[in-house]
Amino acid sequence: MDQPIDGGATAVARAHSNIALVKYWGKRDATLNTPAVGSISVTLDALYTDTRVTFVPGLAADEFWLAGCRGPVTRISHVLDLVRGHAAGLGLPAAGHSAIVSSTNNFPTGAGLASSASGFAALAVAAAGAAGLSLPARELSILARHGSGSAARSIFGGFAEMHAGTAADGSDAYAEELLDREEWPLTVVVAITEHGEKSINSTIGMNESKATSPFYPAWLDSADDDLDEMRAAIRDRDFARLGELSEYNCLKLHALMLTTRPALIYWNAATVAAMHAVRALRAQGLPAYFTIDAGPQVKVLCLPGDAAAVQQALALVPGVHEARISALGPAAYRLE
Ligand code: PMV
Repeated sequence: MDQPIDGGATAVARAHSNIALVKYWGKRDATLNTPAVGSISVTLDALYTDTRVTFVPGLAADEFWLAGCRGPVTRISHVLDLVRGHAAGLGLPAAGHSAIVSSTNNFPTGAGLASSASGFAALAVAAAGAAGLSLPARELSILARHGSGSAARSIFGGFAEMHAGTAADGSDAYAEELLDREEWPLTVVVAITEHGEKSINSTIGMNESKATSPFYPAWLDSADDDLDEMRAAIRDRDFARLGELSEYNCLKLHALMLTTRPALIYWNAATVAAMHAVRALRAQGLPAYFTIDAGPQVKVLCLPGDAAAVQQALALVPGVHEARISALGPAAYRLE
C-alpha cells in the first residue's frame, strides 16, 4: 500500500529500544498506565525506531503506518490525544487536527525486542515536535508511558530508572537518566531464538499475573530492594553485582509468569540453551549475564572486550538464529 502524501506540521524522531535490568510487570493504574513497581534499564544503540508525525488539517482520523503498511491506531491516538490536549492549552493549531504517523524499525517488530519501547518513545518526541510543543524530557517520558510502560525509559540514553510513583494522576510516574552511556560503556548481545509475533501481549500477561499468581505480592514487596541494589551496582560500576542481580530479577519475573494461570511460558528450547551457555561462559571465567523479557529472546550483558566471544558462543547454541552486538544507546532525539 502507498502511504498518503502529508501536508501539515511535521517532525521526525528516533528512539532506541531498551532492556530492563530490574523489570516492570504489573500496573498500578490501568487507565494511566502507571507501573506497580519501578524499573531500571539500559538503552540499546543497535535497535531503534524512526517515526514521522504530521498533523494534517482536514484529515478525518489518525492513521498509523508501520514499514509502509496500515497498523492499529488505538494506543497511538491515545498518545496523540494527550499531545492535542497540551496543544489546546497553548492555542496551537495541532489541537484540532488528526495526524499521520509512519514508523520503521531497524529490527524485527513484535519479536520480544521491545519495539513498543522505542516506538512509543519516538512517537512522543515526534508528536510533541510536530505540534510545536517544547516539552521537558520528564513530560515526554510521561507521554511515552501512556503508550507503553517501558517506553518511558527509552526517552533517555545509557542507564535509566522508571519511578512507579504514588500520585493519583500519574504525574510522578516517569523515567530519568541514572548514568550517561559514556560513563559506563557496557555491551549487550541479543540472541534471537524466534522470529515473529507469538508472545502473549505484555499488558494482558501482567494483568493475569496480578489477578492469579500467588507470587505477585512477593514480586511487589521485593522490588524496592532490587532497585536499591541495582542503583548501588551502577553507582559503584560493579559489573558482577549488576549482572548477578539482573539474572536474579529476570528469573524472579519468569517465576511470576510461570505461576500465572494460565501459565505464561515465554521461553523456547533455545532460550533455555542460551541461558546455560551464558552460565557456562561464566564458569570459564568470562563475566556474562542474561536477561529475558516477555518473549523468547536472550539479552546478554557483558563488557565490551568480551562481546565477540559472547556472540560466538551464542551463535553456536542450537536454535539461536542470530546474535547481535549492541553498545548502549543515546536518548531519543529529533531527526528533522
Ligand atoms: O512496556 P510493556 O507493556 O511492553 O511491558 C514491558 C515488560 C517487560 O519488558 C517484560 C519488562 C520491562 O520492564 O521492560
